[in-house]
Amino acid sequence: MREILADVSVRAARYLAEIQTRSVSPSDEAVRNLAGFVEPFPSHPTPPSEVLRILDELGSPATMGIAGPRFFGFVIGGSLPAALAANWLAGAWDQNAGLFASAPISAVLEEVSLAWLLDALGLPSGCAGAFVTGATVANFTALAAARHAVLHRAGWDVESSGLFGAPPIQVVVGEENHPSLTKSLGMLGLGRERVVRVPVDGQGRMRADRLPELTAPAIVCLQAGNVNSGAFDPAAEICRRAHDAGAWVHVDGAFGLWAAVSPLYAHRLEGFAEADSWATDAHKWLNVPYDSGLAFVRTPEDLRAAMSVSAAYLPQGERREPSQYVPELSRRARGVEIWAALKSLGRDGLKEIIERNCRLAKRFAEGLSEAGFQILNQVVLNQVLVSFGSPGRNQRIITALQKEGTCWCGGTIWQGQHAMRISVSSWATREDDVDQSLEAITRIARERN
Ligand SMILES: Cc1ncc(COP(=O)(O)O)c(C=O)c1O
Repeated sequence: MREILADVSVRAARYLAEIQTRSVSPSDEAVRNLAGFVEPFPSHPTPPSEVLRILDELGSPATMGIAGPRFFGFVIGGSLPAALAANWLAGAWDQNAGLFASAPISAVLEEVSLAWLLDALGLPSGCAGAFVTGATVANFTALAAARHAVLHRAGWDVESSGLFGAPPIQVVVGEENHPSLTKSLGMLGLGRERVVRVPVDGQGRMRADRLPELTAPAIVCLQAGNVNSGAFDPAAEICRRAHDAGAWVHVDGAFGLWAAVSPLYAHRLEGFAEADSWATDAHKWLNVPYDSGLAFVRTPEDLRAAMSVSAAYLPQGERREPSQYVPELSRRARGVEIWAALKSLGRDGLKEIIERNCRLAKRFAEGLSEAGFQILNQVVLNQVLVSFGSPGRNQRIITALQKEGTCWCGGTIWQGQHAMRISVSSWATREDDVDQSLEAITRIARERN
């Protein structure tokens, strides 16, 4: 064991050093070489050192440079050194984090991290928290608590009786909600399409003046940070109206919720702390390894009612039992990496990453605008949408940029217009990375008139 762990640490360190200068996207040859993995199930064992050698030699070159400083696709963070190291140690511990009895260390680190997270994100200190795989499952988990609460108030026990015959729930979303929210609603039996969609403005913000009349049982889903524009819904007004009508307000804040840690950006979250539940990602702006998401619910009893599990063989102690708050029973110890990231950064370090990423997004927007390209969004956070003109030209530039390898950006269609998305979310990205990327983008765009 000792030898292979020493070997993997050398290989991983080499990988992370090379990723700084390597093409961000893997070469065609590296992807073709993945065919080397394809073989019938081996009859005989392979020594662990040989397994690792194959994985590194065939696998590492075929990775996307997400861990490096110039990956700007989707909304994807890197891995902080302390978080990656914690992930390795937690892997060695191999804890089943479902129960305090089976994994006291991870249960305690969830408790500690939960208190720190609520403090950092400006949410009520009594919230329950769920450590899950990502914002999709965090939305699902929080919305399960919402479904429980609004039906319980209407005299219906959804966990026991299901949705057949239940009072219908009015579900309200913005037209620009993330598809994972709609998917979560579908998984909860609330329907992907059976929702009231509220029109949005030019930045993708829900229009409070177009909110329908709300009638309990009702759930209103807000967004803090649009995946394309970074925009925030007008939470203060919508929360007030929703609560007056007895509705539950849920917030999808996969990355936008982290703006709370910066005095420069916290005002964008005005009113969001009034909601009843929130979903966010740790693998985005907290920069912990995949996968890691978080759900918070103001009323712990609603989350427990939706997620609790019991059996004679599962001990329920005095302490917080992680599995009472999440969809899974057996699970990995995500709280370990979250604790390590928060401990290593402190409030100041986390604020520095958020503010640097937002400053670098503005640097991108200014550089591209000066070069004559159209910025489609107000750069209020870490997202930039740039248009190079026709759909065909946008696609040609994005494809060429990805192939050239200085950086990686993806495409989107923003309110009918084809664009390239730039998301600055990694702890590793610096000014120089943005300047190198700007040079590559403008050069490639000018070559493709
Ligand atoms: C606003 C929003 N919600 C939900 C998600 C889904 O997050 P995950 O991929 O972690 O499930 C994303 C991903 O980018 C997002 O931006």
